[in-house]
Amino acid sequence: MYATVCTLYIQSTPYTHGVAHTEVFPMADATGGPLRIAVIIGSTRDGRFGPVVADWITGHIAEREDMTADVVDLVETPLPTVFPAFGQTPSDEVVAQLGAVSPRLAEADAFVIVTPEYNHSFPAPLKNAIDWHNEQWHGKPVGFVSYGGLAGGLRAVEQLRVVLAELHAVTVRNTVSFHNYGEVFNADGKPSDPGCDVAAKALLDQLTWWGHALREARRARPYAV
Ligand SMILES: Cc1cc2nc3c(=O)[nH]c(=O)nc-3n(C[C@H](O)[C@H](O)[C@H](O)COP(=O)(O)O)c2cc1C
Repeated sequence: MYATVCTLYIQSTPYTHGVAHTEVFPMADATGGPLRIAVIIGSTRDGRFGPVVADWITGHIAEREDMTADVVDLVETPLPTVFPAFGQTPSDEVVAQLGAVSPRLAEADAFVIVTPEYNHSFPAPLKNAIDWHNEQWHGKPVGFVSYGGLAGGLRAVEQLRVVLAELHAVTVRNTVSFHNYGEVFNADGKPSDPGCDVAAKALLDQLTWWGHALREARRARPYAV
């Protein structure tokens, strides 16, 4: 169980990597209909388990009429790890790489991040993908599906909450976390414990509540930064 705490922080100027994201990738706000969920696969390791977990939660999204999924796989859409200098426009090559990811994050109403735990945190490619973006996260909810050893990836999730708060995102309280995940999933790539499906529903229900609330709020007035 998690405790909820209130925090007050001093806002600083967001980093934009030399280009205002709103100019290059307009933030498309939804006009209604099912919530658009970007499911981000956080691991890029050869032989990774991440897609199994992502397929499972995407299947849950697919069964619902109130949301649709767009799976953002950082293996298929890698992003450079060198940022341009402040005030400098990214090269055409980098703009093309961002073009495969950024508009999809901009168009999302909400996010599900699927993450393993690497050294008590989340994988570097996921941090890189987060850091390339700014407005795309603003005023949107993020839910987590994590997996790992004894801790079930929860240490990665708690660190992600801190990072995403800086980006004006709202993280959903419930998580789905797979502890010792190798013993949880059966040969069909599904968790054998039906409690996992209950947890997925609770997570997606909360994401839906926040997704609608924040989509309506963003439509009513621009997010204050
Ligand atoms: C660099 C690295 C660090 C890891 N650190 C942890 C850890 O701190 N806690 C944990 O539970 N599992 C850890 N693991 C094990 C991962 O949970 C496990 O390998 C998992 O399959 C990684 O996700 P992936 O297969 O999608 O890459 C680590 C794995 C790697 C590759």
